[in-house]
Amino acid sequence: MCGIVGIITSEKRNLVPEIISSLKNLEYRGYDSTGIAIINTGEIRRVHRLGAPSDVFVPQQISEELGVTSDGLSVAIGHNRWATHGKPSEENAHPHFDCTDTLAIVHNGTILNHELLRKELIALGHTFSSTTDTEVIPHLIEQKIKEGSSVKDAFLDTAACLDGSFGLALISSNEPDRLLLAKHGSPLLFGVLKDTLIAASSSNAILAYTNTFITLADGEYADLSIGSGNVSYKIGTIQDRENLITKETTTITDHSREDMSMGEYESFMKKEIHEQPSVFRTTILGRYDETTGDAVLGGLIDYEDMLRHARQVITVACGTAHNAALVGGILIETLANLPVRNEIASEFRYKKVPISPEEAILFAVSQSGETADTLESVKEARRKGYTTFGIVNVVGSAIAEAVDAGVYARAGFEIGVASTKAFIAQLAIFYLLAIKLARERGMTPQEGQSILNELNKIPNLMIKTLETTESEIKRLAENYASKGIRTINFLGRGIHVPICIEASLKFKELTYLETGSYPLGELKHGPIAIIDNNALSIIIMPHDDLFALNKNSLEQVLSKGGNVIVVTDELGAQNLVLQDIEVIIIPTLKNQLLYPALEILPLQLFAYHYARALGNNVDKPRNLAKSVTVE
Ligand code: F6R
Repeated sequence: MCGIVGIITSEKRNLVPEIISSLKNLEYRGYDSTGIAIINTGEIRRVHRLGAPSDVFVPQQISEELGVTSDGLSVAIGHNRWATHGKPSEENAHPHFDCTDTLAIVHNGTILNHELLRKELIALGHTFSSTTDTEVIPHLIEQKIKEGSSVKDAFLDTAACLDGSFGLALISSNEPDRLLLAKHGSPLLFGVLKDTLIAASSSNAILAYTNTFITLADGEYADLSIGSGNVSYKIGTIQDRENLITKETTTITDHSREDMSMGEYESFMKKEIHEQPSVFRTTILGRYDETTGDAVLGGLIDYEDMLRHARQVITVACGTAHNAALVGGILIETLANLPVRNEIASEFRYKKVPISPEEAILFAVSQSGETADTLESVKEARRKGYTTFGIVNVVGSAIAEAVDAGVYARAGFEIGVASTKAFIAQLAIFYLLAIKLARERGMTPQEGQSILNELNKIPNLMIKTLETTESEIKRLAENYASKGIRTINFLGRGIHVPICIEASLKFKELTYLETGSYPLGELKHGPIAIIDNNALSIIIMPHDDLFALNKNSLEQVLSKGGNVIVVTDELGAQNLVLQDIEVIIIPTLKNQLLYPALEILPLQLFAYHYARALGNNVDKPRNLAKSVTVE
């Protein structure tokens, strides 16, 4: 949610194209409005616009608008917004200024005490030009400078007054060779080059320039400056600013750069759907031992005893990550006979969970590792005495840092706003986790080996599933989209129910149509009322133990005149009367619990092609943001 960038260089040049290109790489974090500020001939100048940088920023035109001359620039900052306080508009787009137009700030996060601060600042004579929470920040800095503080102290004293979350970058025309950063709760790092320091909310924004970064922790600031023709930086904490900190740089591998490019694909989402076989393979790689039939999760190694004696598992997550946890819950209960409670993070934090922290282990699941609801749930759980584990994709993210231990998801950068490959990575970890918990609770080595053996084959079967289903699913999606079908339900039983929920979420996000997902047996208790020849039911029913029961329910839908697509396996297809239904066939598996990893693929593709047929932007669906850092 919102992305910031900032550049400072001792080699003066036009920084506008670099800021724009970095902002484009951050569009997944927010794309309703955008802006840039620079210091040019001693003055702060800004452009801000409604829309995403890809749509509204042409480097040459913006450089001209900002009056960039051949002398070049030393500092610039930029922002992509996902509106939380104040509607998307040019006035509300960052960077925000103070009353004297000498300070410009970009902010990622939410300021909870902004109303009070705004009131106090207005009483002191400040005038505001936006309705954002952010605008209190430059005015508060201005006020502190007026009262005698240096720019740096005013910035850090202001940061200390803010309640909420922030990643901040500040420039001042009175100190044109400086870029100040501060972080609390929102991610912030900077890349280190010989003559340039480049800050951003995420490393993928600036990978084109450097893969060596310093990541700021909560409560830290960085003072980036130019002196004697060189750039340098100092890092300290907002509370104890004189004691400087030495931080290690992190180097990101080349693999991450590939994630930033669409390659031969028409969209990031399509690319990420097709990356899932390799993501699954990478996520399980080296994390199991076929000789013992056990999973080997290095991140949990110090907690073996706790895993062995836990009497309950709690998962906390949101959206797609929660849906992965729902699959995980069924896996753990079925394989390890261990009760699981799947909690939606935004609810968990505020509710009473009658499970003693000594008996339970808690897993927080998150792609971004930034989701405020999940992060706050972890903090609350720790306060209550739970040991918390993470299943997180982004290394070093807030949730990864907040938990006691965890297992990384290894999906790589996920750029498409609707999550696909992170879901598959989370599923892969839940398979391993369920095996691990089960092996400690009576699963034999042979049983463990048998599942691991088939798990190992899943990536190739995923490739086969994508290859054999895509053209048919595309045809069906385009056909139903053109028919104007607008009532779509995803139905299944058992472990397929969470996949229905996830398929429905994906479909909703991309098509903007209202969809439902129900356990198939529930249909007759109400939802069947909406079935007629304008409704489409997608039923997930591979040939498993519940196949006969599912066939009955399928008949009920057909008898009401509904359109039906059945997702089944080769064996299931042989046992169905294919009249009046469309069928998508996935490979047959020995272990029924592994079907989710295959059956989600055609359903992601269905949502994708339906949305494209409606003309929607699949990488950036309306109203959504990739990291939801507000509660
Ligand atoms: C759906 C989607 C969201 C996220 C949710 C949690 O496609 O992307 O539902 O899954 O906002 O995000 P993370 O996993 O980053 O905590």
